[in-house]
Amino acid sequence: MIRYGDYLKIDQLLRAQEPESAKHGAEAHEEMLFIITHQTFELWFKQVLHEVGSIIGILDKPYVPESDMGVVLHRLRRTNVIMEHLAKQFTLMETMTAGQFMEFRAYLNPASGFQSAQFRVLERTMGLQEQRRVLRNYMDSLPPQERAFVDEHTQGHTTLFGAVERWLQQMPFMEYGEYAFWQQYRNAVADMFERDRRDTRAVAEADGNDPAAALEQINKLEDGFDAMFDASRYEGLQAQGLRRISQRATLAAIFIWTYRHQPLLHTPAAVLDAIVELDSLVSLWRFRHVTMVSKMIGMRVGTGGSSGFDYLMATTMRQRVFDDLTSLSSFLIPQANVPQLPTEVAQRLQFVNELRS
Ligand code: HEM
Repeated sequence: MIRYGDYLKIDQLLRAQEPESAKHGAEAHEEMLFIITHQTFELWFKQVLHEVGSIIGILDKPYVPESDMGVVLHRLRRTNVIMEHLAKQFTLMETMTAGQFMEFRAYLNPASGFQSAQFRVLERTMGLQEQRRVLRNYMDSLPPQERAFVDEHTQGHTTLFGAVERWLQQMPFMEYGEYAFWQQYRNAVADMFERDRRDTRAVAEADGNDPAAALEQINKLEDGFDAMFDASRYEGLQAQGLRRISQRATLAAIFIWTYRHQPLLHTPAAVLDAIVELDSLVSLWRFRHVTMVSKMIGMRVGTGGSSGFDYLMATTMRQRVFDDLTSLSSFLIPQANVPQLPTEVAQRLQFVNELRS
């Protein structure tokens, strides 16, 4: 008969806290909190990796059935709830004062969160680009066993970024007979900017102002749009590192978000929202960690040998994975300007009509 304690390995769990200060004969009361907080973070990282790994498994296929997208969304939302919880969990650590931390910090040298293998796996699994890392030699601080763990769980594996890009590229409905979404969208964008220019000139004329600066701003924005639709200019952006995701995936994301109220696009749009949310929750984790670190050690260097605050703050700003999707909000146009879908495409995006046909 299965027992609670055996099933959950409670005995092992409860024997896994060994304060270093006690071993030095100077037990620091807060070290228990320090250990348990880290351990719970690591347990939740494990759950996050479990969810994200399964999401990649579902998306990384030549064809993803619509019915699987509900599962993807559900797991992404759970992942985001965990990440929100983890960002909040730093307040637990903050019940320890800087002085209390100093009572045992020296015993931990040179151990550091820098050596968290699961965190490195999470970064790589999300699809963080090596060239975006603040410290390119981050793997050098990992002991051999942790290094092997990271490589084993990431090398040759599809990343979340890769899986999302692949799924987006399969987006049907963007072309149908004569219809090509991006041509219509491009025309709508051109009309919109033309109207903006007309309005700007009219307002400037009425106020007796020079419209040149405002017009230049509009031209710049329009030029940004043009680069999204033009294959060779898009490649140029990719070559400069300004865009990473493929052009097809970008257009699919714009399509999904533009027509998100169509029944068949509800789930894909919510999945994209959740991906953008996950990326910002990882940044939130980094931000909460660094603000907590600054309270604990100020501007001191970390036990892992980094500059501490400056390094961690730089990772928060730079090490994002889904900027390409987040920044697409600059390329969405007001609903009033959105081109109408051809009837056949609109019908295909309705569940009811799908069933009737
Ligand atoms: C008093 C509490 C803490 C302090 C003072 C602290 C300090 C630091 C510092 C200074 C670094 C930079 C690397 C270094 O030079 O050591 C770091 C990295 C890290 N810490 Fe913490 N930390 C604390 C708590 C935590 C907790 C609770 C976690 C949860 C697992 C954590 C996870 C990490 C991770 C994953 C990194 C690597 C981040 C990266 O390279 O982007 N830390 N920590």
